[in-house]
Amino acid sequence: MLLMQPQENNGLATLSLFSGGGGLDLGFDLAGFEHLGSWEIMDEAAATLRAARPEWQVHGSGDGDVRGVDWRTYRGNVAVLHGGPPCQPFSHAGRQRGSDDPRDMWPEYVRAVKQVRPDVFVAENVAALVSAPFSTYVDETIMRPLSGLYTITPVIVQAYEFGVPQLRRRVVFFGFRSAALAKRWRPPEPRFRRPGTLDTGTAETMGLRQALGLPSIGFDDVSPTIRSTLTGPRHTTSVLSSVSAQRKFEQLQVWPNGVAATREAASAFVAKNGHFRLSVPDVALIQGFPESWQFTGAVYMQLGQIGNAGAPPVAYAVARSVASAFSK
Ligand SMILES: C[S@@+](CC[C@H](N)C(=O)[O-])C[C@H]1O[C@@H](n2cnc3c(N)ncnc32)[C@H](O)[C@@H]1O
Repeated sequence: MLLMQPQENNGLATLSLFSGGGGLDLGFDLAGFEHLGSWEIMDEAAATLRAARPEWQVHGSGDGDVRGVDWRTYRGNVAVLHGGPPCQPFSHAGRQRGSDDPRDMWPEYVRAVKQVRPDVFVAENVAALVSAPFSTYVDETIMRPLSGLYTITPVIVQAYEFGVPQLRRRVVFFGFRSAALAKRWRPPEPRFRRPGTLDTGTAETMGLRQALGLPSIGFDDVSPTIRSTLTGPRHTTSVLSSVSAQRKFEQLQVWPNGVAATREAASAFVAKNGHFRLSVPDVALIQGFPESWQFTGAVYMQLGQIGNAGAPPVAYAVARSVASAFSK
């Protein structure tokens, strides 16, 4: 089943902040939105976007930093402003310092929304952001500054429910500037269920082994959450996110450390326990990227962009749900 059937151009312009390797950008692109610009501070990620879509206007490296940009030049031209502000300040994999973390870019995101005044804003982040420890933060930083201008609904999305072979819970904030848009909007609808679970009328998503085309071992399940290699120890090439993830990879007989640049390199460098060694294209597939979307930079940089990304099929479902609010 094709997860992201390209849609015809819908004439709605999107502005992307914190674009990374382009998970959200790709989802919106395939859902038919027009790309107005991407802003991303990391050279390699900007290079990934430029290579994938040479016609896009990508502000990267020298001019990609969102801090200090006067966004008012975009006012009146943007249907959807979307972005995934860095999630390390709130991630279970990080130290959860929230607003005390210098990487906290939510205030910048909110500033951009207030200056651009898009019809809709979409912001993706780790689900931990809407857990109890951050409720005051969310209230003060996101809801209070924006709820006078926008009707805001946070929605929890689970990647495997959108066909991605991975356990990945995220929150997506949807903000609508007009009551009519808010009224017409329907949240993205899950279409898949986890392998081996009760049939609820949705299709079973692929397990990790099936997605990777590995022979049957009589057991399959979705991949544990892929960790970004840009969080934690520098230059790591492990996508392991937790102890429970390690157990799950062991059950699945997949080796998530020392991820190789290519499938050829992975198969030439057999893991000690004989489990299947992952490569960059495998990890991209686990995140729901099509093979045609190539990442730029050293292996840890490519893995960082992939692990940081909004899974494109989820982004596509999010984008289509937003598009539906515009169709009368
Ligand atoms: C969670 S990732 C976003 C992933 C992206 N939404 C996707 O779907 O692929 C956050 C991104 O914000 C970028 N970033 C951090 N600080 C920034 C800044 N001041 N200006 C622009 N980008 C920044 C990081 O380099 C990182 O790529």
